[in-house]
Amino acid sequence: MKKKMMIEQADITTLKVDAIVNAANESLLGGGGVDGAIHKAAGPELLEATKKLDGAETGEAKITKGFKLPAEYIIHTVGPVYHDGQEDEAERLAACYEHSLKLADEYKLETIAFPSISTGVYNYPLEEAAEIAVATVTKILNQTDSVKEVIFVVFDVDNQRMYEKMFEKFGIQHS
Ligand code: APR
Repeated sequence: MKKKMMIEQADITTLKVDAIVNAANESLLGGGGVDGAIHKAAGPELLEATKKLDGAETGEAKITKGFKLPAEYIIHTVGPVYHDGQEDEAERLAACYEHSLKLADEYKLETIAFPSISTGVYNYPLEEAAEIAVATVTKILNQTDSVKEVIFVVFDVDNQRMYEKMFEKFGIQHS
């Protein structure tokens, strides 16, 4: 079956998909931005679950149930803080998408939604981050068995335009 990638402007906490990805920090104990929104929407059981995960390194991905979210699972990944692009930020950001996708595949999940990791508090320039996201997902999606659909969730129109530009660059039909 053809695998699909799409762009959707939405609040990721509202999406009924198998897994949403959280742009977390190394503690995995919540924060602001999309991390804060996910913890708020999922409810206090999420923090109880993430306390048992013992944190995560940049680029690593760990999974919990979605609790009160419509999504069944949350995959928590820690993006790189962007400094100057000379500290392996690109490889570390790519690792977030790769490890999240592979973890979803391990759990036999079919649909997964990503926020724009590291492009908020962690200051990653939008264009570079979107290119890394689309390039990495395009590459890894072909190596997965169960994952059928990836949604890039954008929160504002600039982000939407950036992903559309990258879909064009990589010749991806915007399904
Ligand atoms: N749904 C979808 N996208 C969202 C939502 C939401 N509800 N809220 C924010 N975003 C978008 C932001 O607009 C940005 O494009 O998610 C992207 C990631 O921004 P941040 O949430 O700031 O994440 P990041 O830049 O990876 O920084 C992570 O911020 O919240 C803390 O605990 C978190 O320390 C960690 C750091």
